[in-house]
Amino acid sequence: MSQEVVSVKTEPFDGQKPGTSGLRKNVSVFQQKHYTENFVQSILSCIGPRIKDCTLVVGGDGRFFCKPAAETIIRMCAANGVGKVIVGKDAIFSTPAISVVIRKYNLVGGIILTASHNPGGPNADFGIKFNTSNGGPAPDDVTNSIFEFSKSISEYFIVPGLSVDISTVGVQNFDVSGRKFVVEVVDPVTDYVALMKELFDFDALKDLIKGNGEKSGFKILIDSLSGVTGPYVQRIFVDLLGASPDNVRNVIPLEDFGGKHPDPNLTYAADLVNAMKEGDYNLGAAFDGDGDRNMILGSKGFFVNPSDSLAVLADNLECIPSYKNKVTGYARSMPTSAALDRVGESRKIKVYETPTGWKYFGNLMDAEKITICGEESFGTGSNHIREKDGIWAVLAWLSVVSSHQSSLEDIFKKHWEKYGRNYFTRYDYENCDADKCRQMLEEFESKVLSSSFIGKKYQSSSGKTYVVKLADNFNYADPVDGSIASKQGFRIIFEDGSRYVVRLSGTGSSGATVRVYVESYESSQILEDPQVMLGSLVNIALETLRLREYTGREEPTVIT
Ligand code: G6P
Ligand code: ZN
Repeated sequence: MSQEVVSVKTEPFDGQKPGTSGLRKNVSVFQQKHYTENFVQSILSCIGPRIKDCTLVVGGDGRFFCKPAAETIIRMCAANGVGKVIVGKDAIFSTPAISVVIRKYNLVGGIILTASHNPGGPNADFGIKFNTSNGGPAPDDVTNSIFEFSKSISEYFIVPGLSVDISTVGVQNFDVSGRKFVVEVVDPVTDYVALMKELFDFDALKDLIKGNGEKSGFKILIDSLSGVTGPYVQRIFVDLLGASPDNVRNVIPLEDFGGKHPDPNLTYAADLVNAMKEGDYNLGAAFDGDGDRNMILGSKGFFVNPSDSLAVLADNLECIPSYKNKVTGYARSMPTSAALDRVGESRKIKVYETPTGWKYFGNLMDAEKITICGEESFGTGSNHIREKDGIWAVLAWLSVVSSHQSSLEDIFKKHWEKYGRNYFTRYDYENCDADKCRQMLEEFESKVLSSSFIGKKYQSSSGKTYVVKLADNFNYADPVDGSIASKQGFRIIFEDGSRYVVRLSGTGSSGATVRVYVESYESSQILEDPQVMLGSLVNIALETLRLREYTGREEPTVIT
């Protein structure tokens, strides 16, 4: 029976501007009549003429509202001329896996339903993000045009009666106004696993984990924090690499992530940290809700700072057969520590410095300028896809361990002995008053961007003097297409190379989150506590910002 397309009259909503990574709001915002439809229509209309008979992929991290949103998107795709939608069973798809599918099947793009590491549930967050044909988050020009469209939308198109069953794997065919429309419900894990098997030596990793004869197995503890990675972790680490089911946790995706923040850091993944401290595991890892972020721990809870993780992986890519002799360049986001730069310098490999947001790596990868990249915000990945990839990072680390046959801690010690150590910490002040934060940054800007600020001297409690060498609001010119991203965060750089960076988060859904990133380099004192080493610089940053006065916060919400 043919189903008809309906045009529904609507009016624009304010604020449908995608942030660092898509549109993220409280679920109740998306549940308003026409709100989700308006944004989806804006995405579909901005695809332009290529939408006719194209294939799109849809799926998300399993949080509350993913399933109804996926069904709405499918009905709107049918009405907007899309030929086929690939959807993960029960609307499940990790962000990296969506990127795999877009690239493998040369799709026009995909729609990801996630608010990443933000909490989920009826009273928490939801999000919608559009990825383009390279498999990566839509670049600024695309998200800007989606936002512009949303400001003047007057109707959207939908096939209201289209009844799809997204919980059964298989192909469903529909007739939409005499045109064929196909929905293929797929197992969301299969294509992702196939790619991981191409990239990594699964036999070697299995030997490592299971051990053999005289060598005992390398014990891992993987925590999916009830996010989307559960089924991927189960298939890869348990079924294929032979880890015991006891070595994986929280592998059933829950709509509210068990009421917790699905964010892999020392605060929100504290259970994993404690289990690592108490148990005899060799490597621990956790991922965020949609599976792109990772946190890695060594035995006894040894914390691997994401900036260091990137540097060490970059320095050891030859441990992964598929990357051997194929490294063209490295990249890191501006607030990420310069540990990577030292590897680049020593190996004579160029390092690009981009604004915060994975989307800025996409052009560099498409132009084959970089192979591996990462961010301090627990993101690590490579040119295998155009998203960061949590499980990839664990497989990469296991490959490095398997090739060195030593502990993570020893690998880091050797790395720091060779290159010195970039001590790094990040202070997050979540959900502050947005107006107050704006005022704080205005005052800060006028202070630090005035010419008299250069040369200003600060005294640390240990008697060290920091002299301001450079202060700016970071601007980025994309080396591939020349596009400019301006005002990406304040950098205060001192003469000895220490620095601090201040920016507002682009991923929160309410209030403002202030991030203060602090870094200093030590060539020989490599085994100290970062909080001790950076304490004075942190205070200098907070006092210059007058953060306590403006936000009323004595302590940060999260320290990394
Ligand atoms: C997301 C993006 C990352 C980015 C991070 C920054 O996870 O995918 O690429 O680094 O957000 O978030 P923020 O809250 O600091 O803007
Ligand atoms: Zn994420």
